[in-house]
Order: sequence, then C-alpha cells, then structure tokens
Amino acid sequence: MLSEKMLARLNEQIALEFESANLYLQMSAWCLAHGLDGCGRFLREHSQEEMGHMFRLFDYVNETGAQAVLRALEAPRHEYGSVREVFEATFEHERFITGKINELVDTAFAEKDYSTFNFLQWYVSEQHEEEALFQRVLDLVELVGSDGKGLFHLDREIGKLRTPGPGTEAAPAG
Ligand code: FEO
Repeated sequence: MLSEKMLARLNEQIALEFESANLYLQMSAWCLAHGLDGCGRFLREHSQEEMGHMFRLFDYVNETGAQAVLRALEAPRHEYGSVREVFEATFEHERFITGKINELVDTAFAEKDYSTFNFLQWYVSEQHEEEALFQRVLDLVELVGSDGKGLFHLDREIGKLRTPGPGTEAAPAG
C-alpha cells in the first residue's frame, strides 16, 4: 500500500511525464514548421515514449489499489531561436527529470516502500539512457553543425535516431 506522501509524489511524476510528452510534441511542431522533418519525426516519437513512461506509472499506482490523480498541465514552450536551442532544452529537461526520479527513489527508501523502490529502478536506467541519447544529439549538433548545409545533414542524421529502451544503446536506424 502506498503512503500518502509516496502517492502524491507518484501522481506528480505522472504529470511530469505528460508534460515531457507535450514538450517534445510541441518541439516536434516547431521543427516541422521550420522544414526539419527528421528532427520533427524524432521528437514526435520521443513524445510517444514519454507517454509510455506516464502509463507505466499510472498502471503501477492503480495496481497498488490507490488511485492515480491527474492535474492540469503546464503549457510547453513553443518558441525557439534555433534547432540547437531545441536540443539544448531537451537535454536540460532530461536532467531535470532525472533529478525528479532520484527524489522519488529517495522518498521510496525513506518510506521503506521497497516495492516502489524496486519499480523505480526501471526509471533510473531509463534516465541514464535518455540523457545519453540527448547528449548524443547535442554531439551531432556540434559535429555536423546547424547552419546552411550542415542543418540539412543534421536533420537527416537526427531523423535516423531511435529512442532506446533501458539497457540498449542509442543507435542509428539501419
Ligand atoms: Fe520520461 Fe525522457 O523521461
């Protein structure tokens, strides 16, 4: 059974995963509006990945016999100065989410809720992969460049990236 504190924290994480999905979907729209179809596709796929993170939490909370409670979501930022700015924001966002997952793990441990502690290990691994993926994207921005012809190649390379699950490497699609 979840403590009140644990339930409140898990419900908050459900909202944060929803907001992550909206953020990446909004970024996808920005990319598509700027002719960056590869980046738009990648971010749209990643938005769906975030919905998977949300549902995994939602199902866990309900399986414990508690009730997942949804809150109003913050509107995502929709203006960016460049594609570099978009991907700098994705990396910052993932670091923020990693901090939130770590806080959840701390709470589970403090509450002696070892079932939730164990459940959260998947998110610990996932955040490692997420940060590595977006670091890789930032490396690509640095290597390929985001001006002129570089932007065309960058969009193509990012369009080939796939979101890995825990325990797999971020690899270009074949
Ligand atoms: Fe749900 Fe990208 O972390």
